[in-house]
Parts: sequence; structure tokens; C-alpha cells
Amino acid sequence: MTKTIDVAIFGAAGYGGQELLRLLPAHPHFRPVAVTSQRYAGKGVEEILPQLEGFFPDLRFTRPEAPLPEGCAAAFLATPHGVSQQLFATLHERCPEMDVVDLSGDHRLKDKEVFYSVYGAEHRFPDKAKDFAYGLPETNREAIRQTAFVANPGCFATGAILALAPLAEQGLLEGDVTLAQTTGSSGSGAEPKSGTHHPERAQDMRAYKVLSHQHQPEIVQELSRLGLARLEFDLAMVPQSGPFSRGIFTVAHARLPADVDAAEIYARRYGPEPFVRLRRDTPSLRHVARTNFCDVSVHQRGRRVVVLTAIDNLGKGMAGQAIQNMNILFGLDETTGLLAPGANP
Ligand SMILES: NC(=O)c1ccc[n+]([C@@H]2O[C@H](COP(=O)([O-])OP(=O)(O)OC[C@H]3O[C@@H](n4cnc5c(N)ncnc54)[C@H](OP(=O)(O)O)[C@@H]3O)[C@@H](O)[C@H]2O)c1
Repeated sequence: MTKTIDVAIFGAAGYGGQELLRLLPAHPHFRPVAVTSQRYAGKGVEEILPQLEGFFPDLRFTRPEAPLPEGCAAAFLATPHGVSQQLFATLHERCPEMDVVDLSGDHRLKDKEVFYSVYGAEHRFPDKAKDFAYGLPETNREAIRQTAFVANPGCFATGAILALAPLAEQGLLEGDVTLAQTTGSSGSGAEPKSGTHHPERAQDMRAYKVLSHQHQPEIVQELSRLGLARLEFDLAMVPQSGPFSRGIFTVAHARLPADVDAAEIYARRYGPEPFVRLRRDTPSLRHVARTNFCDVSVHQRGRRVVVLTAIDNLGKGMAGQAIQNMNILFGLDETTGLLAPGANP
């Protein structure tokens, strides 16, 4: 008999929450039994999210402070940073046995001073971050297995770290490293803002938070953790807004300190990874949209290397990866419920 694991989704009406609800009907074990929304508390999920009609006829949104149904074993926190830290503290006090995947930035950064400088506010529970494993399975699988709490990576961070991890691990990331990353409009959530408004964005391309994006310290933290002691690099990140709704396309440049075959390093490193696909030519956002794949290509001229990655920011960059992490927490095959091909167009 298939084991059912009851899960709660906080922030279930946001883009991340909606994507979890879209993916979970294909999962043989995780069953959403509590979904929170302040705006829609009391309303039926199918009434508010018609794309889910036929899948959750009996599920209603509840307020985040409502008690969880008995037997609920895990929670996804698809809530803003600042909110997740409070929700986690309350949940952990009420249900210490519960496994948690936090999709926000609240538990990714290990250094509270860095957290303050990135998010502009003190962390209310600064000691909690050390209990969370950074949730990029491709680089931190063992730590995820050994914990009950996972800090799901940022979407830009996922595309960037997967682009550069094989070099960092080999001590090949040195000097100037640059990242140009273009995101779709769903990256900033379901709440309309001037920067995500269609007429402002549809025919345009622009940069924002140049050299100051909140994911840069997270990327540096994780690449430094992977690297050899002699690793020293200066990362320059240029985030850009693209005229599409889903996806993050990353262009990473580095100069190798030794004569090595980068493509061979990536092939060896990512060959066994179920959600990383190596491409000869450029990856494409279309091919990863609505999937949990990260497509990667590696281009080299002498010691100059350019690595390209494509992910769906709501998939591998968020909800798909959160399910991948939850699978690991429950000892399931990490691909459970997530293996589906991309589409073209
Ligand atoms: N969008 C992306 O591509 C992406 C990728 C990776 C990570 N993330 C992170 O994942 C988290 C969710 O992102 P999102 O894009 O899904 O955002 P979103 O669309 O804005 O959804 C956030 C949800 O949280 C609920 N919420 C807001 N304040 C709350 C509070 N005080 N208590 C309880 N619930 C509250 C919201 O409102 P209601 O409760 O009223 O429904 C909403 O449904 C964020 O931390 C974000 O940074 C986003």
C-alpha cells in the first residue's frame, strides 16, 4: 500500500504555493491537508485557483495561525522572508516532530550580520539557521538527509551555484567571476508591482540590483563552502528582468587557473544527477519550463570558460526543488513525483 504523508502549505495562494499544489497531485505520497491564505481563508482552493479544479474538491484555505490537522507530518513555508522565521518558530514549538522546507530566504544565510545587511532587519531567531541544511541536493545531499529542516535555495542562487559548483569543488574558481542572470516576472511573486506589470515589462529588458542582489551573499556562502582552501574569487552578479513569466537564464564567466577540460569536469560531476541535463549547445528556458530540470552547457576557449544554465524559477528554482528536498527528508527517491519532460514550444 502506498504510504500517505500529510503536508501543510503556508502561503498556498502565492506563486510558490500554487506551484506546489500543481505538482502534488502527481506525487504518490505527499497529500496537502492544510493550505493557508490570509486573504482567502474559508474559501475553497478550486474556487480561488481554477487551474486546480478536479484535484482538491474538499480542500479549503485556512488562516496561518489555525491548528494543523492531526497527523500532519511536514510543512512547506512558501511565505515571504520575515514571515517564515516566525512561522517556523511557532510550528517547531507546537509540533517539534514536523519536517519543514522553508522556501524563503530566512534560513539560508548562516551569518546573522550578513542576514541583516541583506534583508535590512535583524533575524528574530538567529540561532535557528544553523539547524537548517541548505537545500541544493546536488551539492548538499548528505546534510539534507541528516536534518529535518531545509532552507530551499533562492532561484537565482540555484541557477548560479549549479553553473559554478563543479569549478568551486575542484578549486578552479579564482579571481573575477561574473554572473548575468535574467529572470521572468513570476520571480517576484503573485502580488502585482510596477516592475512586474505587463506593459512595463513585455517588450523590455533591464538590469536591477546590480552587484547588490540579496542572493549574491547566498551564492558566495555556498560556493565558498564547496571550494578548496585556496579558493578566492570575487563574484559580480547582474540580475536582469526578462520579458517572460517563468525561467531564469544564467550566463557565468570565469577564468580557469589551470589547463583543464571544463566540459569533462561537468560531465563527470553531473552525469549521475537526475535533474541536471548537460547540453552541447545553449540551454533553453522553454525546455525546462514546468519541470525540475536545470539544463547546463559549458563553453571553453583556452582558460576562459562560460557556463550557461536554464531553470524554471518556480520549478527547480522553488517548488520542484522543495519537493525534491522533502523527498530526501522522508527517505524517498528524490525524483518521486517530479520526473516529467519539458515541452517545445
Ligand atoms: N517567485 C519565485 O520565483 C521564488 C523562487 C524562490 C523562492 N521564492 C521565495 O518563496 C517565498 C514565496 O514566494 P512567492 O513568489 O510564492 O510569493 P507570493 O506569490 O507573494 O506568495 C506569498 C504568500 O505568502 C502569504 N503571506 C504573506 N504574508 C503572510 C503572513 N504574514 N503570514 C502568512 N502568510 C503570508 C501571501 O498572502 P495570503 O496569505 O494572503 O495568501 C501569499 O499567498 C518568498 O519568500 C520568495 O522570496 C520565490
